[in-house]
Amino acid sequence: MKTLEVKLDSRSYPIYIGQGLLQNAELLSKHITGSSAVVVSNETVAPIYHDSIRHSLGKFRQSQVILKDGEQYKTPASLDSIYTHLLESRFDRGTTLLSLGGGVIGDITGYAAASYQRGIPFIQIPTTLLSQVDSSVGGKTGVNHPLGKNMIGAFYQPKCVIIDIDTLNTLPDRELSAGISEVIKYGIIRDPAFFGWLEDNMDKLLSRDAETLSYAILRSCENKADVVARDELEVTGQRALLNLGHTFGHAIETGLGYGKWLHGEAVSCGMVMAANLSHKLGWLTSNDVKRIRKLLTRAHLPVDPPREINERRFMELMSVDKKVLDGQLRLILLSGIGKALMTSDFDLQALRDVLAMRNAA
Ligand code: NAD
Ligand code: GLY
Repeated sequence: MKTLEVKLDSRSYPIYIGQGLLQNAELLSKHITGSSAVVVSNETVAPIYHDSIRHSLGKFRQSQVILKDGEQYKTPASLDSIYTHLLESRFDRGTTLLSLGGGVIGDITGYAAASYQRGIPFIQIPTTLLSQVDSSVGGKTGVNHPLGKNMIGAFYQPKCVIIDIDTLNTLPDRELSAGISEVIKYGIIRDPAFFGWLEDNMDKLLSRDAETLSYAILRSCENKADVVARDELEVTGQRALLNLGHTFGHAIETGLGYGKWLHGEAVSCGMVMAANLSHKLGWLTSNDVKRIRKLLTRAHLPVDPPREINERRFMELMSVDKKVLDGQLRLILLSGIGKALMTSDFDLQALRDVLAMRNAA
C-alpha cells in the first residue's frame, strides 16, 4: 500500500492506494473517531462492494443509504434522503459518513457531511478511476441545482481517502477511459515526465495492469494534492489550471444534453481544442498538439468536437462558464506540455477558428 498526504495544516489527511483495502478493517476503523458509521452508496456499487465494508466496520453501529445511480440523482432530494435517514435513526455528531462509489456519490456524501448538524466527519472510498484521481481529493463537495451543475456545495475535506484499485476490475471500459482523460490532464498541465510515462504505458493502463494503475493513480493524486495544498479554495488561480479543457468540455456536455458524452470524454476533446488554440496563437508546437491528440486517441477518447455544436452555439455555451470574469472569457491554455496558464488575452478570431474546426474523420 502507498500513502501520501494532502497537506492542509489541521485539515491534512492521508490518501491510501493499494489492493484489498476494502477488506482492511484496521485501516477503515483508524479514521472513524465515534461509535457509528453510515455508508452512502448507490444501487450499482453497493451490491458489489458494500458487504466487504460492512464486514470491515463490524465493531461500529452501522447503517447505509443506497441512492439511485446517475448524475440526475445528484440533487438536493438525494441529500435530503441522507439527512432524513440520519435523523430518523438518531445518528448524532459522532457519526462518520463513508462514501462508496464514483464522483457523484462522493460529492453528495461530502456535502451531506459538511452540512449535517453543522459538520460531521467523512471518508472517501472512490470506486471509479475518475473519482480516485480527481474528485475524492481536494474537498469540493456538492449537488446540482436545476439551474446549474454543482451550484450548491462547500469546500469540506475528508478524514482520509481509501483507494482500493481492485474496485476498478468491475468498472466499464468507457468509464475507465473517462478517468484516464483526467490522468492525462495532469501530465499536460504540470507534469511532462508523467505525460511521457503515459505514452510509454498506455497499453498496460488500458489492460488494467495493477502496478501501472497504481502508479498512474499515485502520480495523479500527488499532482492533485500539491495543487490543493497551494490553492485549496481556488483563489490564486493555481487550482483553476485543473480545469484545462473544461470550458470547451462543459459546452459539449450542455450542448449535447447531459449524459450523451461522459465528463472525461468532453474534457478530452476540450483539451485538444485548448491545444489547437494555443498552437494557433503560436504558443504550442504542432508536435506537442500531435502528442496530446495521439495519447488521448490511444485511450479511446474523443478528440474532435461533435458536429451538432457549431461555432456560434459553442460561443453561446462558453459565455456562461464560471471562469468568465467581468464579461471576459478566461481559458486555460498551454505554452508547452507541462505548462498551463489561465488567460483572457487571446485573439477572439483564433478561438472562433478553433470552434469551427472539424476533422475530416
Ligand atoms: P459516477 O459517480 O456517475 O460513476 C460512473 C458510473 O460508474 C456510475 O454508473 C457508477 O454507479 C458506476 N461505478 C462506480 N464505481 C464502479 C465500479 N467499481 N464498478 C462498476 N461500476 C461502478 O461518475 P464519476 O465519473 O465517478 O464522477 C463524476 C462526478 O464527479 C460528476 O458529478 C462530477 O461533477 C464530479 N466531479 C467532482 C470533482 C470534485 O472535485 N469534487 C471533480 C471531478 C468530477
Ligand atoms: N476537479 C477540479 C478541482 O478539484 O479543483
